[in-house]
Amino acid sequence: MCGIVGYVGKKQAAGILLDGLRKLEYRGYDSAGIAVRNGAENAQVVKTSGKLQALIEKTENGRNICGTCGIGHTRWATHGVPSVANAHPHVSGNCAGTGNGPVESSVVGVHNGIIENYAELKAKLMSKGYSFYSETDTEVLVKLVDYYYNKYRIGPIDAINRTMVRARGSYALALMFTDYPNQIYAARKDSPLIIGKGDGESFLASDVPAILKHTRRVYYIQNHQSARIEADSITFFDLNGDEISLPEATIEWDSQSAERGGYEHFMLKEIHEQGMAVRNTFASMVRNQAIHLEECGLTQNVLNGISHIDVVACGSAWHVGVTSQYVIESLTDIPVRVELASEFRYRNIPMNKGTFVIVISQSGETADTLAALRKAKESGVPVLAVVNVVGSSIAREADYVLYTMAGPEISVATTKAYSAQLMAMDLFAIQLSYSRGFITEEKYKYYIEEASRLPQKIEQILKNKEKLQWFSSRISSQTSMFFIGRGLDYSICLEGSLKMKEISYIHSEAYAAGELKHGTISLIEDGTVVVGVMTESSVLEKTFSNMIECKARGARLIALTSEEHPVSDDGEVDFQISVPASDEIFLPSLAVIPLQLLSYYTSVNRGLDVDKPRNLAKSVTVE
Ligand code: F6R
Repeated sequence: MCGIVGYVGKKQAAGILLDGLRKLEYRGYDSAGIAVRNGAENAQVVKTSGKLQALIEKTENGRNICGTCGIGHTRWATHGVPSVANAHPHVSGNCAGTGNGPVESSVVGVHNGIIENYAELKAKLMSKGYSFYSETDTEVLVKLVDYYYNKYRIGPIDAINRTMVRARGSYALALMFTDYPNQIYAARKDSPLIIGKGDGESFLASDVPAILKHTRRVYYIQNHQSARIEADSITFFDLNGDEISLPEATIEWDSQSAERGGYEHFMLKEIHEQGMAVRNTFASMVRNQAIHLEECGLTQNVLNGISHIDVVACGSAWHVGVTSQYVIESLTDIPVRVELASEFRYRNIPMNKGTFVIVISQSGETADTLAALRKAKESGVPVLAVVNVVGSSIAREADYVLYTMAGPEISVATTKAYSAQLMAMDLFAIQLSYSRGFITEEKYKYYIEEASRLPQKIEQILKNKEKLQWFSSRISSQTSMFFIGRGLDYSICLEGSLKMKEISYIHSEAYAAGELKHGTISLIEDGTVVVGVMTESSVLEKTFSNMIECKARGARLIALTSEEHPVSDDGEVDFQISVPASDEIFLPSLAVIPLQLLSYYTSVNRGLDVDKPRNLAKSVTVE
């Protein structure tokens, strides 16, 4: 987590850095800081704890710091509590860490990632006379660079390379050396980092939105590579210190998509962009009424070789995996296992010839998912990645990539990327089924047609959100909620419940409806809200009976059904929501929308920071 930015050019750096950090705040928001140099002068370092706004106010939006070269950081604490001393930038000198004013250190740096052997490195540095003012691994990293830099009197790149050889873990690192004005040095391993080339100015950032309004020309720096970034040139190096060239890429994202565009929160904007995200994902995979997987290398041969699928992901992306398990297994006879990446990576999982691994990730940088991908590849099985961020680590390392077309997702709680992932996985399942002869051509065309209608149905649900807004005001003071359903509906419960708890802080649980009576029902008491997701007609009555059992114990009931199969309105249910009819395999794509809105409005009613819920960060690049 954490977001880093850098700028060198002719403009004043501080405002550009703060603006970039604002775009990266979703990555971490417990403290922030910038370091700016004016020519050969020492870096001015300013740090604050709390949200970025505190830093903006302290620097008068950057106006009280002068200089055209600088680096910045917004933090999600790993080592050390959120505080000014632990905030980045960190310096090689013995600064008290209050983060105000010029520093005399030879090296100043910001870091995203985690250094696993920091304790051992710190002990080594202490034995060499270094002292530490913070609890962070980053201070250790910056001082290690300084140690090599001064000990061997070698240049910045060699000092960085020696550090990369010694440091274990993950990092995207940006450094300024006092002896090298108007230059920023960068290095990376397993944490995201892009370098942007403008006209007489250069940028670096953890993610595209931070630089999108300045340039679309970027370089994706790879593991164990470093860079020297100057206003007019960017030079890349390998671990031996030899110069290398990296291909320039162009970012296709629309710069407006990284702005709030009149919506009160990014989450609400992204909820409204779901029709577009699903439509674009569909359009990227379907032409002339046929799904084209061969363009990402998934030829008939590859599909024929699949005898068993492992879907691996984290959080909401894992919920997409649960939904796709039901869909793939209902359309084929191929068994599907869905694994949490954080478990998969450490378990002994038999992977044989015929195993096909699918990893799903919005950011393409989630540490556990990346590790799971690597584990699968080490076992020699093919890996398909369903990813939103082009050029991300997961996209680069997978054998096959299906890009979701959600555009940049800023709000910490995923919505549009989730919906785009569902579409990509549905289309994959349909193509797999057809190409392996499980469904007829007629059925194949029917499914594609049904999928094509989803964007418009999503937009239709969004037009009627007032009722949900009203109802959410009635549940805002809840302390506990349950989401129950069976089959595909259970997979939607998982997502609805996570959305609710992560942004409203209301305790909530998703339960397979039939499981309630095996223990959990004892938690139901007067007024507990139970949301029953019942879009699958074959199990609707069974889930409804479980809801009635909850009602008998005092619960208030919300029923979420399809318009085709509503529950009878005889006063049992306190609130009923229905989504447009569709083939049932696609109903998760529709049923999730009201649940996102319910969580969103509940969070707003509780006066919470919807886009930046406490303790979370968007892209989880640490274990
Ligand atoms: C929840 C949410 C997270 C992510 C999870 C995986 O709203 O956004 O649970 O789904 O952290 O992230 P990615 O998809 O980037 O791998």
